[in-house]
Amino acid sequence: MRQIRLNEPGDFQLTEIEDAERKPNELYLRVRKIGICGTDLHAFKGRQPFFTYPRVLGHELSAEVIESPNDDFQKGDIVSVLPYDSCGDCIACRRGKENCCQSLQVLGVHRDGCMQDYVSLPAKFLVKANGLNDDHLALIEPLAIAAHAVRRAKLETDDTILVIGAGPIGIGVVQFAKAAGCKVIVMDLNEGRLNFIKEKFGVYATVIAGDTAKDEIAELTNNDFPTTVFDATGSPKSMNSAVNYLAHSGTLVFVGLFIGEFSIDDIEFHKRESSILSTRNATRADFEFVIESLLSGAVSADAMITHRVSFDEMIANFEDWTNPEFGCIKAVVSLV
Ligand SMILES: NC(=O)c1ccc[n+]([C@@H]2O[C@H](COP(=O)([O-])OP(=O)(O)OC[C@H]3O[C@@H](n4cnc5c(N)ncnc54)[C@H](O)[C@@H]3O)[C@@H](O)[C@H]2O)c1
Ligand SMILES: [Zn+2]
Ligand SMILES: [Zn+2]
Repeated sequence: MRQIRLNEPGDFQLTEIEDAERKPNELYLRVRKIGICGTDLHAFKGRQPFFTYPRVLGHELSAEVIESPNDDFQKGDIVSVLPYDSCGDCIACRRGKENCCQSLQVLGVHRDGCMQDYVSLPAKFLVKANGLNDDHLALIEPLAIAAHAVRRAKLETDDTILVIGAGPIGIGVVQFAKAAGCKVIVMDLNEGRLNFIKEKFGVYATVIAGDTAKDEIAELTNNDFPTTVFDATGSPKSMNSAVNYLAHSGTLVFVGLFIGEFSIDDIEFHKRESSILSTRNATRADFEFVIESLLSGAVSADAMITHRVSFDEMIANFEDWTNPEFGCIKAVVSLV
């Protein structure tokens, strides 16, 4: 079978290797499509914290069951992968919050992922998604991150909310917030991405981040300001100032992350009696909710895909996707 390995930053290698071993008690899968994630782009650029090389990337997946020892899955079932391995024992796992397990490992990040024709995985990593196409499946994981953030925010219909950061994660948040009945404002530094969102998802308004943003948001909300502000930038500058756009009594949700410390003006934070939440990954329930939402058409995966290539073409195209000017939101690699 073919496998693509990232030997070190900037150095992918496509090789023919023996087919993945068939392990007893695991499902044997044919990988069909793989979504390329920010994590993969950062790993390629050598900017992914705590990352070791060589590594097989690939954790946003569409796959078909070839062999199953488990009665819950049949040959021919189409599955997505829940790439998080939680311990089941720690305090978070015992509280049903396995997404933030104390010793969480993510496939394709902390251990090898699925950029190869076949993989063997235990059933606990799989979510059945019959009825969805391969593109939808490859987008389930990033959409689940967004669905999880929106679920944690407990939005109410008719809330006006702000999403800062119009990357794939922010776009997912936009879609689930819209599906929850909210009026959504999106802010980014990148005008191209704001235009993309406007065109494909029809948000209430877009705002370019900068000196006039606060006044624009005040005007758009009749001086109320958004009751929830999601930050999906991973930018400390943005996270430090996000409270300034928040309604009194509102909630800040930090989906994006970076290595370092954020600092928020305490008076701005306190005078609003602000709440602040972080979000980490997603749970099986979030994956199932995403599948339902894709099946019902409440959210769209197709509209997020800007680039499609075959497995053999991936390496030659990868560098371009890391360049913000290139306009890649989500690339999907096809193995079949
Ligand atoms: N919570 C989780 O479990 C989880 C999971 C996956 C990704 N993430 C994080 O979510 C964040 C977003 O991921 P992505 O793949 O969409 O990233 P991305 O880089 O594609 O998108 C980030 C967007 O933020 C914009 N931005 C940067 N600085 C800004 C600023 N100061 N003001 C306004 N906009 C600004 C960029 O122009 C870009 O469009 C990253 O930090 C990523 O690490 C979190
Ligand atoms: Zn991902
Ligand atoms: Zn645990």
